[in-house]
Amino acid sequence: MGRILVADDHDSLRRGIVRALSEAKHEVDEAPNGNVAIEKLHEGQYDVILSDLKMGGSDGLDVLRTAKAMHPTTAVILMTAFGSIHTAVEAMKFGAYDFVQKPFEIEEMELKVDKAIEHRRLKHEIEYLRHTQQDIYDFDRIVGASGALQAVLGIVKKVAKSNTTVLIRGETGTGKELIAGAIHHNSLRAARNFVKVNCAALQENLLESELFGHEKGAFTGADKQRVGRFEQADGGTLFLDEIGDMSANTQAKILRVLQEHEFERLGGTRTLRVDVRLIAATNRNLPQMVSNGQFREDLYYRLNVVSIETPPLRERKEDIQALAMFFLRRFAGELKKRVDGIANDALKLLMRYNWPGNIRELENAIERGVLLTEGAQLTSVDLRLGELSTTQSSGESNPVVKIPPTGIALEEIERQAIVEALKMSNWVQKDAAELLAISPRVMNYKIKTLGIDYARGGRRPMAVQQDEYAPT
Ligand SMILES: Nc1ncnc2c1ncn2[C@@H]1O[C@H](COP(=O)(O)OP(=O)(O)OP(=O)(O)O)[C@@H](O)[C@H]1O
Ligand SMILES: [Mg+2]
Repeated sequence: MGRILVADDHDSLRRGIVRALSEAKHEVDEAPNGNVAIEKLHEGQYDVILSDLKMGGSDGLDVLRTAKAMHPTTAVILMTAFGSIHTAVEAMKFGAYDFVQKPFEIEEMELKVDKAIEHRRLKHEIEYLRHTQQDIYDFDRIVGASGALQAVLGIVKKVAKSNTTVLIRGETGTGKELIAGAIHHNSLRAARNFVKVNCAALQENLLESELFGHEKGAFTGADKQRVGRFEQADGGTLFLDEIGDMSANTQAKILRVLQEHEFERLGGTRTLRVDVRLIAATNRNLPQMVSNGQFREDLYYRLNVVSIETPPLRERKEDIQALAMFFLRRFAGELKKRVDGIANDALKLLMRYNWPGNIRELENAIERGVLLTEGAQLTSVDLRLGELSTTQSSGESNPVVKIPPTGIALEEIERQAIVEALKMSNWVQKDAAELLAISPRVMNYKIKTLGIDYARGGRRPMAVQQDEYAPT
């Protein structure tokens, strides 16, 4: 069984072929001319394309070129009239898989189609074998020697080859998408598509149309049929990002695909079957959402067959330097700047900082630094850490402290400054002291006298709410 596109401007011939192939249990699409065929190539992938060589508008060679450019492993079989065999043979040089001369017996054509499907399957298998040879190569892109990251990669390597559903949990910017990609590229499905959908980015209807596709006329504005992401991922992997942000309806539909491997396009009646491996990611607390009734329990258990926790950067500070250098090299190359190192003060700052935005924030900081720096080494001034998280009016002076109209005790400002410095230093007193240019002894003294709850990570409620004088 394969997905086949039949393109021919000869209506009865095309319909005959479509009927025969459908009867042989293939999934068949048709195009009455080359332009439509090319449009369809932009919407989805086919195992085999059967195209007439001579058509008005775009011809069979155009279809062949587009197919080879977009989906190199798709097999293209050209149908040619007597007399244009020469062109068909030429087309083989451009990557056509085969040709068939009109008029032909339908059986002959079916045989060629079956062979093409088998050929494509073998090609995928070979590509997979090639991939396993370079197994480690893909993991090269994941930087970090910390135990926390290596533990994650250990699980990734173990589950990659299976078809297990994987749930990746972790704070923003910790590399969830990167891990999902690594799983796919090290799986048996590596030669097939890795398709990503961000569930938080779309409203219910749009998300469902994105996932499952729709038929023409399914809703206002659906003026064309659309192949959904599940279909595009057939044989490959679908990465559902921000899975916690899905409506109950969509959750039910996803559950059905996981259980039955089937679904319908929006507005469609035909049930489609797919073979898709699902990887889901979220930075939300799914178990809690389950107990609040916001997330289906059955779906949660289906997704959570294997769960991977991507550790926040502040819990694996030993990776910071390697990551920073990795990004430095990359951006220096991209921006064509001769920056080859990180000054000691900058490195200290990187180590001290708390990284709420994790690796993405580090990546951005280094990019900004490389862009701004005028020397061969990044300095702490180039990094501007944490600046982007507060909104600042440009042009005016930006005081570090804002005093509310109602006034505030100096002691309270001092207290908050110390808590802030401690947070930035991961609660290492010595580093926090350095940030505020005081001695560790003074820092220790202040912690005690200002009543900062050091032991519990300073999470004691503050006397004055932070936002009372936060810059707006
Ligand atoms: N260990 C790593 N080595 C190299 N680059 C990394 C590593 N971890 C993450 N990155 C990079 O950091 C950036 C953020 O990673 P990614 O997009 O995978 O995070 P995420 O967890 O999906 O974030 P979000 O929750 O915001 O979607 C990406 O550019 C990614 O390539
Ligand atoms: Mg992501």
